[in-house]
Amino acid sequence: MIGGLLSKRETMTSDQPSSPSETEISVVESAPKRRDVLASVTVGLGCAGACALAYPFLDSLNGTRGENAAEDDTIEVDLSAIAPGQQVIVKWRGWPVFVQRRTPDMLAALRAPGLDQRLRDPASTIMQQPKDAANWHRSVVPEIGVYVGICTHLGCVPNYDPPSTADTSGHYACPCHGSQFDAAGRAFKDAPAPYNLPVPPVTMLTPNRVQIGKSKGDPGFDIANIQQI
Ligand code: FES
Repeated sequence: MIGGLLSKRETMTSDQPSSPSETEISVVESAPKRRDVLASVTVGLGCAGACALAYPFLDSLNGTRGENAAEDDTIEVDLSAIAPGQQVIVKWRGWPVFVQRRTPDMLAALRAPGLDQRLRDPASTIMQQPKDAANWHRSVVPEIGVYVGICTHLGCVPNYDPPSTADTSGHYACPCHGSQFDAAGRAFKDAPAPYNLPVPPVTMLTPNRVQIGKSKGDPGFDIANIQQI
C-alpha cells in the first residue's frame, strides 16, 4: 500500500517543486513560551485549488551523516543541545524528521485519562512504526521522540506546539487541513489524517546520541512497508 505513495512523496520532495511559492518556516525550540530558530527551512508549496494539496520541499536541515555514510543512509543526531520540551528537525531520506526531548509533564499527558478515546490508534496497532516503538510513547525511550514530519493526510509538515504553562502536553497541528497529533505523533479523531505520524528506524547510541535509519530493536523494519507516510 505504501509503494505508490512513497514514490509520489519522494518525487514531491525533490529539489524541483513544480509550482513553488516559498514560505519560510522556523523550526521550533520550545522551552515553554520560547521559540528560537534552530534552522530555517525553505518550503515550496505546490498548491492546487486553495492549497488543498501542499507538498513541502525542505532544503537544508540539521543532522550529521553516520560514519558509514558511504554504505548506508543513517544519520546521527546530538541530543545534548535539545532542552526538555524542545525539538529539532533533521533531514533523513529527504523527509523532515522531528526529534523531541520530552518533559515529565509531556510524558504524563500521553497517558492522561480519556486521551486514548480521542485518538485513532492509541496503541499503535497499525504498522506505522518499528516494533520497539509500538508502545504508549511511540519511541525507543520515553524521553526522546522521533517522527517523520509528514502529515498522513496529504503530506504537509505539521507545526510543533511546544508545552506551555497553559498546556504542558506539547502536540502537532497540521497547517493545511487541521489534523492534530499528540506529542507521540498519534492522530486525533475528527480530523483528516487517518494514521499516526510514521516513526523511522531509530537506535539510541548513547543517552545523548541517536541514530536514525537503523533499528536495533527491530532490525528487519523497512519504512517502505508501513501503512502510509
Ligand atoms: S495535509 Fe491535510 S491535514 Fe495535514
